Amino acid sequence: MSFTIDEGCHVIQDINTAPDYELKHTPKLEIIKGEDLMLVRVTIGLRGIGHPQTEEHFIEWIRFFVEGELIEEVSFKAGDVPYFEYSVVPGADFFAMASCNLHGMWLSYSDSE
Ligand SMILES: [Fe+2]
Repeated sequence: MSFTIDEGCHVIQDINTAPDYELKHTPKLEIIKGEDLMLVRVTIGLRGIGHPQTEEHFIEWIRFFVEGELIEEVSFKAGDVPYFEYSVVPGADFFAMASCNLHGMWLSYSDSE
């Protein structure tokens, strides 16, 4: 395993050695820089390894935090594409959590990728 547990969440330690099981659960944080704000786009799965979204196995929610505060929790069901976008000021500290109904919670920090 190449993850640790932080706040009850799995956190990948080294993306280069993480197996697909870990890559497909981890929130991906893409940053699109604007003039005054940065758009943060959260999807699930790193390096193109996607997670299923079926009745039996799916991402239940994404939570997004800025400066340690929960900004929003978005819930998903089978067939949805787990996805969230939020604008933050440059330099803000942010992270995202995601929950799989079978495999628990996964966390990515702003500097994870
Ligand atoms: Fe899963």
